Amino acid sequence: MKLWGGRFEGTPDELMERFNRSIGFDWRLWSVDIEGSIAYAKALERAGLLSADERERLIQGLQAVAREFEAGQFEFKPSDEDIHTAVERRLGELVGQVAGKLHTGRSRNDQVATDLRLYLLKEIPGLRQQLSGLQEAIVVKAEQHLDVIMPGYTHLQRAQPVLFSHWLLSYFWMLQRDRERLDELEKRVAVLPLGAGALAGHATSLRSSAGLGIDRHFLAAELGFRAVSENSMDAVSDRDFVAEFLFWAALVQVHLSRLAEELILWSSAEFGFVALDEAYATGSSLMPQKKNPDALELLRGKAGRMVGHLVALLTVLKGLPSTYNKDLQEDKEPLFDALDTLKLALPVAAGVVRTLKVNAEAMAAALDDGMLATDLADYLVRRGVPFRRSHELVGRAVRRAEELGLPLRELPLAEFQAITSATLSTSSEAFDEDLYAVFDHRRSVEMRDSYGGTATTAVRQQIEQARAVLQGGNFTPT
Ligand code: ARG
Repeated sequence: MKLWGGRFEGTPDELMERFNRSIGFDWRLWSVDIEGSIAYAKALERAGLLSADERERLIQGLQAVAREFEAGQFEFKPSDEDIHTAVERRLGELVGQVAGKLHTGRSRNDQVATDLRLYLLKEIPGLRQQLSGLQEAIVVKAEQHLDVIMPGYTHLQRAQPVLFSHWLLSYFWMLQRDRERLDELEKRVAVLPLGAGALAGHATSLRSSAGLGIDRHFLAAELGFRAVSENSMDAVSDRDFVAEFLFWAALVQVHLSRLAEELILWSSAEFGFVALDEAYATGSSLMPQKKNPDALELLRGKAGRMVGHLVALLTVLKGLPSTYNKDLQEDKEPLFDALDTLKLALPVAAGVVRTLKVNAEAMAAALDDGMLATDLADYLVRRGVPFRRSHELVGRAVRRAEELGLPLRELPLAEFQAITSATLSTSSEAFDEDLYAVFDHRRSVEMRDSYGGTATTAVRQQIEQARAVLQGGNFTPT
């Protein structure tokens, strides 16, 4: 019954068996486990360790096991401690003794590392697509609302007017970096451990003295890996790819969480900048009037578990002696959960953005004169006043307006000029009648036309860049 029973006289403690078992979560590796074994059977034949007939019987058997899983008809036995054991046990039932040849030169150590990498490799294209889906939703929304001006915040205090689209697109670029990181880490996932054996590699001369062993490059090509591991001890030990992926997932979720937090705040009655579509909200069982932004709160809340998964894995890895230790069995649940979580979170976030209602009037109503103080300082700069000085003068004007209970634009020219004449180094003409032209939020936005700025022309250019990267074209930062 056991893959390792020979050496043992008694049976393990029942609780120990339950404790040891990973089948409850690693069953999902069935497909990649079988795929890996089929490739391995081919490699064994090439190495002269299986006859063509044996290879064929093994492959047929493995395919039959796969069909049972597909049909939901695979029957687990209490002795199936993990997915590798379960598949091999069933294979033996179907094809008999020859099943015992499949594990030649292979260990569950290189097998499980291969399975997990293959599993993750197959998930990456879908994640990439979902990420692009969210980016696409952002670009479309940004394009639709290109005329909307809102307060831009720093320290969550009103700072300067910006385009709503400019704010939204800031998330596009966070996600774009996530996409690049995913491409990068994919390269390191696609390194094949198979052939490393338990830790020391396998003997190339298992049958004849001039054997070539199991062709690892053949296996890599067969399974879609781009390289083979250089060190068998590292190969069975290495879970960097899981750690990297979990960091990636945590960062993506942190980005989603920040977006969610802003939208939660803005959908409150106090802001009213946006309204969440009903499809992404829920009601309260007690208060009939409530429409709660649950989708956003979950996008924010899930960041906690994603960061937790990363910390959990790093903690498992820290202090592990090299090669395989059973601690490594703890790598799977965080990885699976991170995948499951993101595969829901990304499309939900895209749906939220796609259906979001934008309240341009509420945003306009939140624009105040104070947000144009920087423009007023720039006005003085254009008239030759050093910026530090103009900052000081405008600061005084803001204070004076506050004292008089007036919005800045209603502060009389005489008051502005009194401020400058009271300070010896600046001529009172620094402030002139035309200073009042500054009090125009649209003008303020359109003036910031530097590359990457908030002016409509710059944001249009940004949207073009965004579209280019989405279409897989070249991103040309200038
Ligand atoms: N279930 C194990 C895991 O997930 C498979 C590898 C077992 N290897 C061993 N030497 N016991 O890590």
